[in-house]
Amino acid sequence: MTTGVIIGAGWVAQNCYLPAFKKLGISLGAAADISIEAAKRLTEQSGGLAVTTIEEALLQRPDICVIATPNFLHARQSLEALIYSGLVLCEKPLAVSLGELALLKTAVLDDRLHISTPNRFRPDVIALMTAIKRGNIGDPLRVKITWRRKSGIPRPGSWYTNTALSGGGALIDIGSHAIDCGMMLLGFPQCRSAHVLKAGLSDPDCPPGADWMPSRAQDGGCFDVECSGRGNFGLDAGKLLEVDVSWNAICGEDKTIIEVEGTAGCACLKTLFGYAPVNSFAPILTIWGKEGKRESVFSFTRSPAVDFGGMLGALLGQKNDGAPGPATFNEGIEVARMIMNGYQTAEFPWLAGLA
Ligand SMILES: NC(=O)c1ccc[n+]([C@@H]2O[C@H](COP(=O)([O-])OP(=O)(O)OC[C@H]3O[C@@H](n4cnc5c(N)ncnc54)[C@H](O)[C@@H]3O)[C@@H](O)[C@H]2O)c1
Repeated sequence: MTTGVIIGAGWVAQNCYLPAFKKLGISLGAAADISIEAAKRLTEQSGGLAVTTIEEALLQRPDICVIATPNFLHARQSLEALIYSGLVLCEKPLAVSLGELALLKTAVLDDRLHISTPNRFRPDVIALMTAIKRGNIGDPLRVKITWRRKSGIPRPGSWYTNTALSGGGALIDIGSHAIDCGMMLLGFPQCRSAHVLKAGLSDPDCPPGADWMPSRAQDGGCFDVECSGRGNFGLDAGKLLEVDVSWNAICGEDKTIIEVEGTAGCACLKTLFGYAPVNSFAPILTIWGKEGKRESVFSFTRSPAVDFGGMLGALLGQKNDGAPGPATFNEGIEVARMIMNGYQTAEFPWLAGLA
């Protein structure tokens, strides 16, 4: 039986990894969290040891170690986990600075480290990717991904909204998913240039959070990250990726729209990434290709057990119906590098007193 350990027993561990472990029959060897209560909440549901340090969890010598802690811990904990675990699946982003990325590049010597990319395993994304692979729209040249949340700031005042701990706001949080998805659809060409714009709030005080991720008493109160981010990325072979993400957009409904332009047609997927219990509509994939216009409507329920289950299953060698597997180390490095370089081009005028 496959044994896994989870480092960080918070929202994603509870709502995404635990259901996926159960679905795949992965035995939880240990859950580690600086809060023993949080670790116990996980192990009480599924067995395994509740511990407070990564070192204790890794004593299990697991087949797979999931890193699900706040972003600033990802790089160093992934390196530690690689010593004792067969495989390591690190939550996005892989790192929060170019320095950490450089360190990882030097220190990671094999292909056992992967980055969590559950959206690759959604049925609608798989259908879009399959159409592209079959050549239905020719060579994909440009991708634009828009992901708008109406009221989706994760725990304002917590590590999520503190640059030192998160690396940034909406762009590094939900933008990591959008960039990975866009890059995958384009065949992961190397990024040559990045330009990012960030937008904040008219009210600099801590704004209200998402209903499904409200602030907690112990959250520190720091809010210095962008709520919306736009990035244009120039890629090899003249390809272009645009992402436009927002935690607090002024829009009618939460939505994710993926537009792909190819040499022989185009495609548009209207869907919704993430698992927030908000509006739910049937995703629609429209392809204007060599055979004219074709529309597919999907009727699945958004489910972490399916997406994270597919991702973990692919990592553990299960057949995966056309999905490419979770992001490799090099893909994770490239996505994080695009964000870090992009952030360096961003302006935050009111912080400099220029508003
Ligand atoms: N892939 C996705 O769809 C998705 C969704 C949500 C979150 N995430 C990512 O998952 C990660 C965790 O997010 P979350 O929402 O679960 O956050 P969270 O704050 O709910 O949980 C993080 C947990 O890590 C624990 N922790 C902090 N320092 C630790 C340490 N040194 N050792 C062990 N545990 C420690 C905290 O006590 C907390 O319980 C983040 O990187 C986030 O970006 C990914």
